[in-house]
Amino acid sequence: MTQRIRKAVFPVAGLGTRFLPATKTVPKEMLPIIDRPLIQYAVDEAIEAGCDTLVFVTNRYKHAVADYFDKAYELEQKLERAGKLEQLDKVRNPLPDHVRVIFVTQTEALGLGHAVLCAKPVIGDEPFAVLLPDDLIWNRGDGALKQMADHAERSGGGVIAVQNVPQEKTSSYGIVATQGFEGRHGRITGMVEKPKPADAPSTLAVVGRYVLPPGIFDALEATGRGAGGEIQLTDAMAAMIGAGRPYDAYRFQGTRFDCGTHIGLIEATIRFALDHEKLSEPARESMQRALDDLGVADNA
Ligand code: UTP
Repeated sequence: MTQRIRKAVFPVAGLGTRFLPATKTVPKEMLPIIDRPLIQYAVDEAIEAGCDTLVFVTNRYKHAVADYFDKAYELEQKLERAGKLEQLDKVRNPLPDHVRVIFVTQTEALGLGHAVLCAKPVIGDEPFAVLLPDDLIWNRGDGALKQMADHAERSGGGVIAVQNVPQEKTSSYGIVATQGFEGRHGRITGMVEKPKPADAPSTLAVVGRYVLPPGIFDALEATGRGAGGEIQLTDAMAAMIGAGRPYDAYRFQGTRFDCGTHIGLIEATIRFALDHEKLSEPARESMQRALDDLGVADNA
């Protein structure tokens, strides 16, 4: 697999229960960090990595995702007439011309592995990327997926993004065992889904970026329902690794925000606000005021 990845899959058909009631009508992937939805950050990362085909795995409740990447004629006309050219520019070209989008439906939320399997007909026999938009990864240099795609081109195998987590948090993640690390990457020897801290083979946790070989589809088809009655991507990757297929863990450069959790979304918002050209100063002042107010309230 020394081919450059061109296709990126975005599984966005989950129920997003942790953000109810908002996600009753707004897909989790459309929650904004400042003024851009989570999906936009992931799409930008995929395009930067060289992808020109974006595959969204959606369901019937997620029209907003398709609408977001569609043309909004009426809005554009209104902005143009009002001379709001800066805003017009923001909505006019959601994607560069060379990029196309494909939507496939996951009729039942049977898990991340099942969502990836739904993309099989449009991927074909080539390596591809999977990005989970609720894992927002921020880096001043190359994006996480670009770093991984560059590595995949050299290594010729699958590549899974990992980050070190505190030992007590291993039960919230897929955890990998590796043969040791050379720079940012290490060959994976095994994977365990959500191990108790005492049973975890390491503290290297899988996060939502993958470069996968096309063989993953056969592995997914052979994978039965695992934890929670869902078809787990981790189980299929673990089966391939067990069968001797090369997969590397890649410790990407960048900061990951788990925007699938309340605190992660808050952290990302704070960080992006503090780094924002126009918002940095007012955000700082506002945070200071909030802390001061709470301090007063605590002492009252
Ligand atoms: P999560 O585990 O975060 O589940 O899915 P979720 O449904 O989105 O959110 P909670 O846990 O109920 O709050 C990880 C990724 O896999 C996708 C989700 O959209 C998310 O990007 N997914 C999950 C699917 O596309 N289909 C599924 O059946 C399950």
